[in-house]
Amino acid sequence: MKTIPSIIKIGMLGCGVVGGSVARELASSGADLAARAGAKLELTKVAVRNLSKRDGVADSILTTDAESVVTDPEISLIIEVMGGIEPARELILKAIANGKSVVTANKALLATHGADLYAAAEKAGVDLYYEAAVAGAIPIIRPLRESLIGDRINRVMGIVNGTTNYILTKMDEEGLPFEVVLKEAQALGYAEADPTADVEGHDAAAKAAILAGLAFHSRVTANDVACEGITKVSAQDVATAKSMGKVIKLIAEAKRSDQGISVRVAPMMLDRSHPLAAVREAFNAVFVESEGAGQLMFYGRGAGGAPTASAVLGDVVAVARHIVAGSKGPAESDYADLGIAPKGASITKYAIRMAVHDKPGVLANVANVFAKEDVSIQTVLQKGRGDAAELTVVTHRATEANLAATVAALSKSDVVREVESVIRVEGSAS
Ligand code: NDP
Ligand code: HSE
Repeated sequence: MKTIPSIIKIGMLGCGVVGGSVARELASSGADLAARAGAKLELTKVAVRNLSKRDGVADSILTTDAESVVTDPEISLIIEVMGGIEPARELILKAIANGKSVVTANKALLATHGADLYAAAEKAGVDLYYEAAVAGAIPIIRPLRESLIGDRINRVMGIVNGTTNYILTKMDEEGLPFEVVLKEAQALGYAEADPTADVEGHDAAAKAAILAGLAFHSRVTANDVACEGITKVSAQDVATAKSMGKVIKLIAEAKRSDQGISVRVAPMMLDRSHPLAAVREAFNAVFVESEGAGQLMFYGRGAGGAPTASAVLGDVVAVARHIVAGSKGPAESDYADLGIAPKGASITKYAIRMAVHDKPGVLANVANVFAKEDVSIQTVLQKGRGDAAELTVVTHRATEANLAATVAALSKSDVVREVESVIRVEGSAS
C-alpha cells in the first residue's frame, strides 16, 4: 500500500528576489498551503552563494553546498531559482536522477536544454514544472499545456519581458533616459542578474521559444528565435512614435505557417488604441489565437519577487498534490515536430527614420528608392529644418529582403545623411 507523506520536504536552489519571496510565503502561509497540497510543505535546505542572513529563512538551513540539497534523500521537491545555465542544469538533472520533482523559474535554461530536462523527468517519472519561467505571475504555461490541449493554436503574441516594458513605458510617458530607467527596473527586482538578457531581448526570446514549443507541440529553442532588443530604440524613436499616435513595445510573436514555426522578438510600433499599448510598466500580456477558442488574452505582473513567487508556489502545490497522490503531471508534447520556418520570410510594415539633407527634391528622391525596391509607402512624417531635418516613412507590408535592400539603397543615397532606425509596425491589414 502507498504511504501518503504527511510532510513534503523541499530544497531550494537560490534565495534572491524570487527565492526570498517564495521562502517568506512558505513560512507565512504554511497552514493554507498544507491544506491545499494535502501535506505539510517544509523548506529544509536552501543553497546560496554566500551565507548572509535571509529574511524568513533560518540560518541553519542555508548552505553553499548546492549538491547536498539535490541529493538529500529526505527532500522530494526542489525549487530552482538560482538562474543561469550551469550549475542549474547539472543540479536539476541530479535532482531528477535522485527521484525529486523540480519547479523552476529558469527560462534561459529551459529554452536551451529543455529537451534533455523534460526527457530526464519523464524517464524518472517525476514532474518538471515551470509556470514562473514565462510572464511572471500570469498563468500561461498551464493554459497552453492543459486547458488548450484540445484546440489548435495558430499564434501566440505579447509582451513577455517586464524590464523592457518598464523602460519603454518610462521613456514614453516621462521622457526618461534608458540608463536611468534600467537602474530603476533593477532596483525593483525585475531585471535578470545580467540585464543584457533583458535589454537585448534574450530573456523574451527564451520565453517565446518556450511558448512556441508548448503551443505548437514542437521543439523550439532560443536559437530558433529571430531576436532584437531595445538598446537601439532611442528617445527620438519613442518621440516620433508618439507624434504618429503610436507607442513602441518589445513584442514576442510565435506563429505557424505551411513553412513551419516562426518566432520573433523585436521592438514594434503599436497604435495607442491597440490592447498591448495599454500594458504598462512591468506588466506583461499574452494573446493566444486558436481555432476553437478564438482570441484569448492573459494579463498580469510579469516580473518581481512576489508575483513570480505566486507562480512558483502554484507549481509547488500542484507537484506536492501529485506526490501525495503518487501521480505526476502531463508529459511535454513535441509530437508535431513542425520545424522552424526559414528566417526572413515574414512580411511586416516598417517605420524608417532617417536624417536627410534639407533641400528641394529630397522627398521625391527617397520615394523613388522605395519604389525601386518594390516597397510601398503608407505615410511620411517630415520634421525639423537644416541639420535637424528628418523623415520617417511608414511602409505598407513588405518582405524583409525588400526592406533590407531599401535600407541599403537609402544609406547610399545622396539625399539621406543617415538611416537612424528601422522599427516594425504592427498592422496586418495593409
Ligand atoms: P537573484 O539574482 O535575485 O537570485 C539568485 C539566487 O541564486 C541568489 O540567492 C544567489 O545566491 C543564488 N545563486 C546563484 N548562483 C548560485 C550558485 N552557483 N550556487 C548557489 N546559489 C547560487 O535572481 P532572481 O531571484 O531574480 O531570479 C532567479 C530565477 O528566476 C532566474 O532564473 C530568473 O530568470 C527567474 N525569474 C526571475 C524573475 C524576476 O522578476 N526576478 C521573474 C521570473 C523568473 P546569493 O544570494 O548568495 O548571491
Ligand atoms: N527579467 C525578467 C523580466 C523577469 O523583466 O521580465 C521575469 O521573467
